Amino acid sequence: MQWTSLNDLREKYLAFFEGKGHLRLPSFPLVPINDKSLLLINSGMAPMKKYFTGEEQPPRTRVCTCQKCIRTPDLERVGHTARHGTYFEMLGNFSFGDYFKNEAIPWAWEFLTQCLEIPEELLYPSIYEEDDEAFEIWNKKIGVPAERIVRLGKADNFWEHGTGPCGPCSEIYFDRGLKYGCGSPDCKPGCDCDRFMEIWNNVFSQFNSDGKGGYTELEHKNIDTGMGLERLACVMQGVDNMFEVDGVRKILDKVVEISGKNYGEDKNADISIRVITDHVRGATFMICDGVIPSNEGRGYVLRRILRRAARHGKLLGISREFLTEVCDVVIAENVAGYPELGEKAGYIKKVMSIEEDRFNATIDAGLSILSDLIRTPLAEGADTISGEDVFKLYDTFGFPIDLTREITEESNLRIDEDTFKMLMQQQKVRAREARANISGWSDASKSFISTLPATEFTGYTDYKTEGEKIIAILCE
Ligand code: ALA
Repeated sequence: MQWTSLNDLREKYLAFFEGKGHLRLPSFPLVPINDKSLLLINSGMAPMKKYFTGEEQPPRTRVCTCQKCIRTPDLERVGHTARHGTYFEMLGNFSFGDYFKNEAIPWAWEFLTQCLEIPEELLYPSIYEEDDEAFEIWNKKIGVPAERIVRLGKADNFWEHGTGPCGPCSEIYFDRGLKYGCGSPDCKPGCDCDRFMEIWNNVFSQFNSDGKGGYTELEHKNIDTGMGLERLACVMQGVDNMFEVDGVRKILDKVVEISGKNYGEDKNADISIRVITDHVRGATFMICDGVIPSNEGRGYVLRRILRRAARHGKLLGISREFLTEVCDVVIAENVAGYPELGEKAGYIKKVMSIEEDRFNATIDAGLSILSDLIRTPLAEGADTISGEDVFKLYDTFGFPIDLTREITEESNLRIDEDTFKMLMQQQKVRAREARANISGWSDASKSFISTLPATEFTGYTDYKTEGEKIIAILCE
């Protein structure tokens, strides 16, 4: 198996499945189109749900993509570990009522063992515990010995993400070697340690989930596969984590250059370097796809990661605006696979620098107030910071609450959440009352408005609306 770059791997995968009759589609935008259930696209299948359910006709019954994805549940952990990230690319081959297990499993094996030449003995399949059909294919058709095929339960080998198409799955794990293992005699794929790394998930997508435990059979059986490009690159490049993969490492090196720090010397600096690397990477793609910083929904996700990156720049001692310099490297590294980055480079950097500017303008004052607020409980040996102070910082200075949380946690302090939440609630009521008192509205309208929740996320209208907002910001 040969060292292969991120860009070459993407191409190899897509070309392989084109050779199996698949239509290669470009990545769908990160902003879901006509899907209010999702803030941001988080898997290869997400933009294609309607092809699976039969509500829409796919352009061909076999499709392959490399999909841009954002996952944010572990946002706070990004940087603190080298394993977590928000942005990644997912390779996927899909069948909409066309081929099923008998083709999907052997093709996955052929790609890994023949095209990429990963030694067979380093690969372990897992199957859903009741899926004897998948077992037979792995064991009889491909020849993987029974003791290397691991049966796992629903938690591991039944894939579903909220509502929509789902089904039992068969994963492929790569054995990174004993040195990554936990030493337990039971250590095998599915173990929590770092030895067996899941690289590919083949979902036999045959049900539709209502998200409440109800499943209906889909009209036809489908294949939904997902393989993290960066993870696969870790295998092919013999590196530990995605920050060491070529296209990501170049971004990290830029952060190192700007900050004048060395990577791998100081734990806290490394955290900041990884935060900036991941977040500017994700933000670049989000802006390119039409997200703009705002205080709710996906705009808030973008604002949060940009501000988090900017703040970690300050922690590294960077005293000038720098996000767009990092963004230049993200664009250069990815423009081959995503030409739209080149076309929109000026726009992306403009949005990024406006947000960095705004952040800098408000943050310096807020940070110094917060460090005073933290000093008092620390001096008194207390472990809690006042909810009133935190609320004031948020309400008066617009200082983001997540940032307050993160910074106080770094000093091992907790926020008096009860008081903070109570004050937030009171503020929402005040806002609601204020809205209901707008002059010129009829009493009926006022009383209706006063029943509305203050800041509820109700989904997005459409992609175009977001586009209109972008034009607004450019004209500002
Ligand atoms: N949809 C499946 C996943 O995201 C393949 O893992």
